[in-house]
Amino acid sequence: MVPTVEWKDGAVRLLDQSRLPGAVEFLDCRDYQTVAEAIRTLKVRGAPAIGVTAAMGVALGAQSLQTTDDATFAQTVLKICDELAATRPTAVNLFWAIERMKRKLESLKGHPVSAIKERLVSESQAILDEDITLCKTMGRHGAELIQDGQTILTHCNAGSLATAGYGTALGVIRAAWEQGKKINVIADETRPVLQGARLTAWELMQDHIPVTLITDNMAGSLMRQGKIQLCVVGADRIAANGDVANKIGTYSVAVLAKAHDIPFYVAAPYSTIDLNTKSGEDIPIEQRNASEVTTIHGSHPVAPKDVAVHNPAFDVTPAELITGIITERGVFKPQEISRHFVS
Ligand code: MRU
Repeated sequence: MVPTVEWKDGAVRLLDQSRLPGAVEFLDCRDYQTVAEAIRTLKVRGAPAIGVTAAMGVALGAQSLQTTDDATFAQTVLKICDELAATRPTAVNLFWAIERMKRKLESLKGHPVSAIKERLVSESQAILDEDITLCKTMGRHGAELIQDGQTILTHCNAGSLATAGYGTALGVIRAAWEQGKKINVIADETRPVLQGARLTAWELMQDHIPVTLITDNMAGSLMRQGKIQLCVVGADRIAANGDVANKIGTYSVAVLAKAHDIPFYVAAPYSTIDLNTKSGEDIPIEQRNASEVTTIHGSHPVAPKDVAVHNPAFDVTPAELITGIITERGVFKPQEISRHFVS
């Protein structure tokens, strides 16, 4: 697996996902502003991955501060946290990771600034390492739901690229494959940013897991023909009532799955569960630039210039359409999620 994000030689190294699948290029961020810009422009994306990246951005910003006065240092780090938190609104992992970095900072009050800097780097590394472990544990739980010979549909990219490694929804698929189950994956292309076509198809092909790419509007027809046995997707935020925000188009897949009596699972770690958000209606949905819809990948225009565009990056799937939520603690009914996790 190519690392999505890592701390390397005093910089935050990101695999530039905006260049995939055409080029495998890395971006070395040497200041936190570059990290923030990379999150904003989807060079790194996927809920857990942006959380880990933001945590490393906080550590990187702290490193560059010259002051030895701990109050000034702490105040400036908190400002850096605010800037990183303003990059994207929907995935709660971003805010979760930044809050964890703030708690670490608070717990180190009174220590020399040089020591705090080091501990912030190690905390961000701990968040990264933990994310991989969580994904592998989720993968083991989820793989039990998959039977040999099944074809599984996924939407967007909830893979190694969307996490620190291994993936959530693709982690489940990867674990089933590693257990020797002969499975096939159907990847929705995921208009408008094409995370399914550009990232999921690429990632699964790297691992030699059989994948077939479809456009988003083909899923229903395949389901009707009995060609899909299970759906699994990731999540950007899970509300206390079990509603799930994920990439735009996820709701349509869930409705189709319900209509065809196909199990629809969501895979996500505890850092995606937001018990402070009561229901899906309270989840802020990111609105993105019109050019994502009017062009293919920022270049070829596919719509009349100046047409009105609606471009929400996420939608909400209500709990009643979800068969189960696969977490590192096991698989739960969405309505039961708040009983198994504390805020
Ligand atoms: O806009 P993106 O590419 O950041 O959206 C990503 C998704 O919606 C993923 O499905 C989600 O973050 C789960 S990733 C494990």
